[in-house]
Amino acid sequence: MFIREIYIQRRLRLREQMKEGLVLLLGNHEAPMNYTANAYRFRQDSSFLYFFGLDEPGLAAVIDLDAGAETLFGEEVTMDDIVWMGPQPTMREKADSVGVAAVSPFGKLSETVQQAVKKGRPVHFLPPYRSFNKILLQDLTGIAPAAQAAGASVALIKAVVALRVRKEACEIAEMEKACKVGYDMHVAAMTMCRRGVKEHTIAGFIEGKAIADGYMPSFPVILSQNGETLHNHDHSQILTDGRLLVIDAGAETISHYASDFTRTLPAGGRFTPKQKEIYNIVLDANNYAINTAKPGITYAGVHLGAAKIITQGLQALGLMTGDIDESVAAGAHALFFPHGLGHQIGLDVHDMEDLGENYVGYDDDTQRSEQFGLGALRMGRVLHEGFCITVEPGIYFIPALIEQWKQENKLGQFINYQKVVEYIGFGGIRLEDDILVTPTGCRLLGEKRIPITIEEVETVINS
Ligand code: GLY
Ligand code: MN
Repeated sequence: MFIREIYIQRRLRLREQMKEGLVLLLGNHEAPMNYTANAYRFRQDSSFLYFFGLDEPGLAAVIDLDAGAETLFGEEVTMDDIVWMGPQPTMREKADSVGVAAVSPFGKLSETVQQAVKKGRPVHFLPPYRSFNKILLQDLTGIAPAAQAAGASVALIKAVVALRVRKEACEIAEMEKACKVGYDMHVAAMTMCRRGVKEHTIAGFIEGKAIADGYMPSFPVILSQNGETLHNHDHSQILTDGRLLVIDAGAETISHYASDFTRTLPAGGRFTPKQKEIYNIVLDANNYAINTAKPGITYAGVHLGAAKIITQGLQALGLMTGDIDESVAAGAHALFFPHGLGHQIGLDVHDMEDLGENYVGYDDDTQRSEQFGLGALRMGRVLHEGFCITVEPGIYFIPALIEQWKQENKLGQFINYQKVVEYIGFGGIRLEDDILVTPTGCRLLGEKRIPITIEEVETVINS
């Protein structure tokens, strides 16, 4: 948690951007795993954390824009709670710690909201993503869960995005901590990587590191020798010579800022010549993006530049052919690179994705493409100083996709299918770093870059 003044300032800036009515911000509640008292590890809502800092279940807040008043809603702990959980601060102490003037029992929230609804005052809320809050919101506003995303306040979404998207110095310091844990997770994985080791032994170990050194992984660990499946959470295989191990994992700090890194390792300790060729194309695309990203240019443009590097590299290996600009414009590279170059990162690993990807990654000047591949780019808008984003190009050989495109001879003028089928079984390669956009360019987040060149990776694995 940051100092009180940070939260006071953030709410002041939010109020300056909003006109009238109530802003309703719902915290999260315990989410039962298999019975009520056995809950998943608690994760507070990120926007609630951003404006109110309080990291515990059962809270909500209302900002009355017309009266300029802020109220924190929640229950005082009972003696039973103290017996099971230990001493707890009072609601008044919690509100004071983040500079909120008024506190109220949680049960009064419906009265406050319903009074506003009755008077026809706008009640601004964010799109809820948890069932508990969808039901609560229905009780408060009368809006059925299915209609809540559409009923969410665009003005509030835009105001929250505008604030959260540019990271403050205190946030960047937290992201650096998350990157440090992410570094340790990936280097630990490298030192464990050898023939005969089970994937889930590595996945479990690095997940434990995220918990031991931070709060938890910033998302369920992606780790598989079938790395051509972009988000593969199956860790059931044994590391085998000649295969590639994709590890996409990051950490969340106690204050809930995230890191997100991907490295691809030779499962048996050494890359084959064929793997090295593809690996270095992905590395070139990653380095290109880091060398190119700067304020004033669109990330969609950086994505297309990375796609060009991938196309050039695959042409040099005989997998692709034809005019490079036309090939990229047609989206031929998406057979191999079917996802986006990156996304915003912050309190969420895909920062603010709950508010709607297009509000975060696009704006009136940069619209999302519908083309396969480019359409998966979560973040395409103009870059500004203070943005934290991921850089994660990849090349994958996805058998079902190759089979479909080959049968249709899709974009056959740019793809040499005879050669492509020789790579079925290759797997995939993704290399991901996290960057901060600076006044003149960008810099890597994290004190040290996780080993990434072929030589660096093989050295750590075999050390
Ligand atoms: N690291 C997972 C993702 O970016 O989707
Ligand atoms: Mn990512």
